Amino acid sequence: MPSIHRLAVLTTLAIFAEAIIVPPASQGVPDLNTQPVDLNGATTDITGIVSTASLVDQKSGPSLREPPNLPSPETAITAIDNTLVKTTVTSVTNTRRSLVKRSPSDYVQVFEGKQKASRDGSIEGTGYLTYTLVDNSTYNVDQCLDFCDHTKDCVFVNIYYELNNPLLDWIFSEKSNLKCAAYADVHYSAEKTNIGGQQLEELPHDSTYIQRSSGYASLTNVAEPEIPDGYELVFGPTDGANNAPGYMGFVFLDRYDVQACADLCNSRDADSIGGGCQYFNIWRAVVNGSPVTYTCAMYYIVADESTAVNWGQGDLKVTQSRGYARQNLLPDGGFEGYDECPVFCFTSGYEFWKGISPAFGHQDATIFHYTQYAHNGHGVALLGSADGRDNFPGSLTPSQLLQTQPGKRYSLQFFLSSDFSGMLEQAAFVDVMWNGEIIDTIKPGVQHWKFYSYDLTAKGNDVLQLHGGKAPSWVFLDDMNLFLA
Ligand SMILES: *[C@@H]1O[C@H](CO)[C@@H](O)[C@H](O)[C@H]1NC(C)=O
Repeated sequence: MPSIHRLAVLTTLAIFAEAIIVPPASQGVPDLNTQPVDLNGATTDITGIVSTASLVDQKSGPSLREPPNLPSPETAITAIDNTLVKTTVTSVTNTRRSLVKRSPSDYVQVFEGKQKASRDGSIEGTGYLTYTLVDNSTYNVDQCLDFCDHTKDCVFVNIYYELNNPLLDWIFSEKSNLKCAAYADVHYSAEKTNIGGQQLEELPHDSTYIQRSSGYASLTNVAEPEIPDGYELVFGPTDGANNAPGYMGFVFLDRYDVQACADLCNSRDADSIGGGCQYFNIWRAVVNGSPVTYTCAMYYIVADESTAVNWGQGDLKVTQSRGYARQNLLPDGGFEGYDECPVFCFTSGYEFWKGISPAFGHQDATIFHYTQYAHNGHGVALLGSADGRDNFPGSLTPSQLLQTQPGKRYSLQFFLSSDFSGMLEQAAFVDVMWNGEIIDTIKPGVQHWKFYSYDLTAKGNDVLQLHGGKAPSWVFLDDMNLFLA
């Protein structure tokens, strides 16, 4: 039995609610009547990217004292948001990168070495991976190409003689001065900038020099990069980088690694206003014909080719630009598919979502078409009786089972608002339910659109439910995404 005191409070609340709160079903005005959220945020900072690209030095080749046959390093990060760094994708994203074995491929000669008698130069370029010493009884191109086939990410080799390096002549077991350097990008003779000149042996020995430096590119490298799991290719390759809203920042990679960029997008901290990373643009920066770095730019708004209009700045040209969008497993997560009226209408279900009321409940979970209630666009979901007739929580769920892959991890992301009835929102709550289990109970209080995310493991055909609301403590939900994590 409720105490007299409690009854009095309840009656007061009821009168208060009836007197002041016009429910969502009657197009009531939200109490806080807050400004619409500006979801576009910053656009791409191409100037920041270009100026950082002028500082970064990713060009290298085998160093004089480096032993041969070191394992190819994993993809490295050389800058994060205008700051030069030295780290790996793995340490930033905490993901294990798989090694992809390449099958033998065909090669083309990109440039030919000078005649043996004259001095030449070896490549100092981006994406240097490792080198080996090949048998120098002949100019052993075949063995060098074979080495590339067995080196992860290798698409180009530079083969050359290095003279007067005592490590090659006396120390390393191969006893060969024919170096074969593997790269993750193709380079041209203009990049033969290492011409030796180091005095490694005592005079009267000569200093080091290079002879017969040729380059070979794998033809498989022109093949389309593999599309990362959980993504779709939006455009590319083109020579334009996105100049688009919802920009979250960039990372420089030491090679054109689409999967690394996807891992970075997946692990990027969400923007408090715009939400999680949903799209990335990867491109290669070329200065005077030579690649200098590989940009991975991230966005919380999915962009497309129409904004891929940054061709470069000054000497820097954009090449190999591709855009990839994260695939949302929730069909119509923004509720924009509910489009039954020009301005205002609502429903307890349509093609993609259903709202479920408990027994004797009335419109306890609904979908509204009304710009004023939506986080973005005109569609938005509501938990709690739309006309305020009862105070039962409702359940919102996708109409179909989710096409999830068993055992995979997913990231559920959405925005939640509970400020419709001001102080009467104290009882607002949402149970986030995954296959019938409560993952979290959100008690937001009075709160304007806020971003939430959860890590979930799928078992296949999973069921997502958002259960809550308690009129007049209504809860709005919008822009729901379920991404492969
Ligand atoms: C092969 O390399 C070794 C070690 O540097 C060198 O002594 C030898 O002269 C080279 N042979 C040829 C044919 O270049």
